[in-house]
Amino acid sequence: MSGGKIRIAAALAASLAVSLSAAGQALAQQTVKVGLIVPLTGPFTPTGRQIEAGAKLYMQQHGDTVAGRKIELIVRDDGNVADTTKRLAQELIVNDKVAVLAGFGLTPLALATAPISAQAKVPQIVMGAATSIITERSPYIVRSGMVAPALTVGVAQWAPKNGIKRVVTLVSDYAPGIDIEKSFVEQFKAAGGEIVAQMRVPLANPDFAPFLQKARDAKPQGIFVFVPAGQGSILMKQFAERGLDKSGIRLIGTGDMTDDDILNGIGDVALGLVTSHHYSAAHPSAANKAFVAAFKKANPGMRPNFMGIGGYDGMHLIYEALKKTGGATDGDKLVAAMKGMAWESPRGPISIDPETRDIVQNIYVRKVERVGGELYNVEFETVPAVKDPVKAAKK
Ligand code: PHB
Repeated sequence: MSGGKIRIAAALAASLAVSLSAAGQALAQQTVKVGLIVPLTGPFTPTGRQIEAGAKLYMQQHGDTVAGRKIELIVRDDGNVADTTKRLAQELIVNDKVAVLAGFGLTPLALATAPISAQAKVPQIVMGAATSIITERSPYIVRSGMVAPALTVGVAQWAPKNGIKRVVTLVSDYAPGIDIEKSFVEQFKAAGGEIVAQMRVPLANPDFAPFLQKARDAKPQGIFVFVPAGQGSILMKQFAERGLDKSGIRLIGTGDMTDDDILNGIGDVALGLVTSHHYSAAHPSAANKAFVAAFKKANPGMRPNFMGIGGYDGMHLIYEALKKTGGATDGDKLVAAMKGMAWESPRGPISIDPETRDIVQNIYVRKVERVGGELYNVEFETVPAVKDPVKAAKK
């Protein structure tokens, strides 16, 4: 290279370095916006409040700057109306220029948003909704909460070994309930159980009484229940009102029914109830004790449930992904950074399946007990690192 060419090359390199560092500075100054869409009005308000509280607690504990970029959480209420969730997602992307969408308390809300995240290439962190199919609806969906059909694995095996061999299933009549019914029936039968009847209850304003009566008439040893977070109170109230708690018929289910947020309000009728789930406020780890104490302090009168932990760990995913990309918010880079991520959550060890973007986590079998004046789901068995059985069966 001649002297002149070298000088030109050096000048070009220098100007490139200047513009790159200017770009770096602009990036640092640019806020990363996260749009959190949850129900904060209507019957599923507690779900939205839990997710919001979990996400905000994570930010409070870890600061609002990641990889040199300030994080701003924009919270929107969809009132559990899927069309609203979709419109809010569009507005957050187009007007607010959010880098990430998060929240999604119920399945229809997550599904309505999936085409938007796919089209805009914006990561969609599903913190609550649990139906298996959700993560297949957009390559930008990553799940931080739970996958419904995985939740039954513990109780389906525990029940037949403990004198509950003839069971009626009673599930909320929408996608996660159908997933859970199917996986419970398969696992329970494989473990030697017999299904006497299968019932589905409408999601909106459910009246469980007639279903409980029909279930009782079938004379099972147990009733297996799935209801979404928050609906356990009414189910348990109607169970007790009909005297089923004294009938010898055991109630079992996924832990959605004995959600930590409402369990104390349900009262003694819940004592002894066995469920399987991925999170308990009583999970005996130092990380969980610290999480529960901080959550209660930041949200007086509330106790964290599985929606709260979905919000908390969802923010962890976003923060750690941003660290890995050096603050870059390109959707493909963020999702690539999230795939395979593994960490110790207050619920126990968890990871993101790199193939499915779904959560892999322990499922615990728990029994409701009184501990220090409060009701808790006390874990007594662990099924480690459970993957979505529906996706596993498709392979
Ligand atoms: C859901 O809609 O996917 C859902 C909501 C609440 C639950 C479980 C599943 O507790």
